[in-house]
Amino acid sequence: MRVLLTGAAGFIGFHTARRLIERGDEVVGFDVVNSYYDPSLKEARLALLAKAAMTAQGDWRFIRADLTDGAVVRKAFETRFDRVIHLAAQAGVRHSLTHPHDYISSNIVAFLNILEACRDQKTPHLTYASTSSVYGANLKMPFSEHEGVDHPLQLYAATKRSNELMAHAYSHLFRLPTTALRFFTVYGPWGRPDMALFLFTKSILAGKPIDVFNNGKHSRDFTYIDDIVEGVIRASDQIAEPNPAWDAMNPDPASSNAPYRIFNIGNNSPVALLDYITAIEEATGKKATIRFKPLQAGDVPDTYADVSSLIEAVDYKPATPVCEGVRKFVEWYRTYYSE
Ligand SMILES: NC(=O)c1ccc[n+]([C@@H]2O[C@H](COP(=O)([O-])OP(=O)(O)OC[C@H]3O[C@@H](n4cnc5c(N)ncnc54)[C@H](O)[C@@H]3O)[C@@H](O)[C@H]2O)c1
Repeated sequence: MRVLLTGAAGFIGFHTARRLIERGDEVVGFDVVNSYYDPSLKEARLALLAKAAMTAQGDWRFIRADLTDGAVVRKAFETRFDRVIHLAAQAGVRHSLTHPHDYISSNIVAFLNILEACRDQKTPHLTYASTSSVYGANLKMPFSEHEGVDHPLQLYAATKRSNELMAHAYSHLFRLPTTALRFFTVYGPWGRPDMALFLFTKSILAGKPIDVFNNGKHSRDFTYIDDIVEGVIRASDQIAEPNPAWDAMNPDPASSNAPYRIFNIGNNSPVALLDYITAIEEATGKKATIRFKPLQAGDVPDTYADVSSLIEAVDYKPATPVCEGVRKFVEWYRTYYSE
């Protein structure tokens, strides 16, 4: 298959691209390689993708450009794609409190450009990243795609929820098959430097204290990167279809009479933040010095994914235990940074 993969220099995009190349797909990566975090990490990921393409069956081409530039996106779509997997975005909950405009340009304007290009090209299936953050103020656990999500707690979540609504309009109007994937706290080797696992590991190894918010009373459905990639590829392979049982009098938010669907991808097994830190201590062999802090603005206390819809549709459930995933991350971190 010929696949356009946006955000290919990013954490999840890199792992997804590598898997697609390894299975023999023709992958066109697209990323602006911005400096939201250390771009040298992104360059290192891109170098590995180029190397993977030399030995694997698949093909790899990379477009270094900004998705907010409609003309560049249209040009990229002069190639016909069998699948579009859109993972590029301005990620990060906390950054959205200080840099709101980045989220409107990279999450809303860029997504519109992708939708328009898919519409013009009649792309067979668009799969895109959403987030557990859309559950916002909801407290009913586990979080289900069949519940309403209209109370985002920050602009990041609001832009991702907007993507789901924009996608529905295109699925309805132009019969563009779309699948939203709500990722739950993804972690693993090559992970993001702004996320807890990276920050904690770096500080613990350096003997520095770590800041733990909400006085440690957080739990997260931490999901290992390989499990996310498996879910992304299975969902992308299977084209979204209208739900014949969808009832306009009692509308299910996760499906439609248009070719539109939403899936959670999470571990379905929330872990207390302090237990996650214990896993890092075990993997590093060092004790953490914890500075407890209050809840940060925009953070949700707990996340927990209901993955029954994902299992039913693509016969897959993430399952990597946190101790194993954290160990693999720490191994990678130590090697990469020559600790
Ligand atoms: N990592 C997680 O825990 C998590 C959780 C929920 C949702 N997500 C979503 O998954 C997707 C991938 O996340 P990630 O963790 O790999 O993030 P990442 O920041 O590592 O990757 C995103 C990539 O998108 C690129 N990008 C940003 N704006 C762009 C633009 N305007 N044009 C072209 N490229 C642009 C960046 O350069 C970056 O390489 C994102 O949509 C994110 O919101 C991630």
